[in-house]
Amino acid sequence: MSEKDKSPLWGGRFGTTPAEAFERLNASIPFDVRLAPYDIRGSIAHARMLGERGIVSREETAELERGLRAVLEEVEGGRFSWTLSDEDVHTAVERRLREIIGDVALKLHTGRSRNDQVALDLHLFVRDAADRISEALLAVMRALVEVAEANRDLVLPGYTHLQRAQPILLSHHFLAHFGAFERDLKRLEAAREAASVSPLGAAALGGTPHPIEPALTAKELGMEPLSNSLDAVSERDFALDLLYAAAVLGIHLSRLGEEWVLWTSAEFGFARLDDAYSSGSSIMPQKKNPDAYELMRGKAGRLVGNLTTLLVTLKGLPLGYQKDLQEDKEPIFDSVDAVLAVLAVLPEMLRTATFDGERMAGAAGGFALATELADFLAARGVPFREAHRAVGRLVRRCEESGTTLEEVSEEELAAAHPELAELPRELLSPGGSVANKRSSGSTSPGSVEVQLERARTRLGELGEA
Ligand code: ARG
Repeated sequence: MSEKDKSPLWGGRFGTTPAEAFERLNASIPFDVRLAPYDIRGSIAHARMLGERGIVSREETAELERGLRAVLEEVEGGRFSWTLSDEDVHTAVERRLREIIGDVALKLHTGRSRNDQVALDLHLFVRDAADRISEALLAVMRALVEVAEANRDLVLPGYTHLQRAQPILLSHHFLAHFGAFERDLKRLEAAREAASVSPLGAAALGGTPHPIEPALTAKELGMEPLSNSLDAVSERDFALDLLYAAAVLGIHLSRLGEEWVLWTSAEFGFARLDDAYSSGSSIMPQKKNPDAYELMRGKAGRLVGNLTTLLVTLKGLPLGYQKDLQEDKEPIFDSVDAVLAVLAVLPEMLRTATFDGERMAGAAGGFALATELADFLAARGVPFREAHRAVGRLVRRCEESGTTLEEVSEEELAAAHPELAELPRELLSPGGSVANKRSSGSTSPGSVEVQLERARTRLGELGEA
């Protein structure tokens, strides 16, 4: 290679090639090569627009497109190679294009800058990632509904302060997570919409004298065109939106994971994971660890970190392309990979787990039924505060004598409050307690059926969307 061939594509005004250490620091190709399929799609749209507008000839457009498709094939077949001197994916693709179709490749970059090009690549990646994450999340939501339906009659304690609070249906619990994931889908949809604006045509920052038409490339890519060229190359809001959606989803997954870590402990003993979704210890032969759920909890940290990384990267930047923006890609890739890895295991892990219904119901009885007694009294006209106090005293007596609420005699009930003599005994059971709920959205079997029906309908709508 001659000195001229080794010099970067911007090398015209430089007297020497880049120092090796600078080249290593400056290059994004080791990580942004992942954008190659998006870069090529954008270039095909750009080439067609150039032809449409008579900026290059029809023949040249056809050559450019043929060459770009050949590069895409190499990328998809894992045969695309790059070197550090390519600097970034845009340059690597253009270099390869020239090797395949010759000097007509040099016309592709007319009316375009790497600044609008990289922004477009990232928009396309984010839009695609939002779709992939949404689809994987839908699979989790389907599994949640299935498991909720298959375990309709299981009752467990609902917790506040991680102390047993009141019995709830296991299906109610799963549907609570379903609700959180529905909101995640909305956030992903918002990120998708924000990413569906094409920055192509902004050129370096102020547009171009060539008669390009940003609306043509945008339409070709199924996007809206930019409205301000400076904003188009400067903003990364769509990326923040995706990182935020991924971070909140990660927090939801982390909370779910934490519950399963508790449930599968010997102390709780509510659930068992299938062997295929747990791992052992290299020293303690008895161990069966909920690693996947721990990782779900663990990955939330980096998801929040990645959002913070990009926020801070953007914080002090003036408008226009600044090289700091090159730092936007790795946090995005990392968040997308982390979320997809977790979502991929979750549906089957939920389906194959088993529950110890007796143990759950056992934990959901006892003092977790105390509110039922207070509510019974209040329904009979006893002021709630007075009812609360009377039942509280009864709980204390039970604690002192080591009895449970279910074991309390009618005399003791009546002694706690005369109205309690009338208490229907079935209220003093986890099943009786949940069945006694009346408010909409509650944990009563009737309400949970309504919620299940709604969830199934939502899944149908979302699946078709
Ligand atoms: N590698 C760069 C990035 O990832 C591409 C844009 C470079 N533009 C420039 N003017 N240096 O952000």
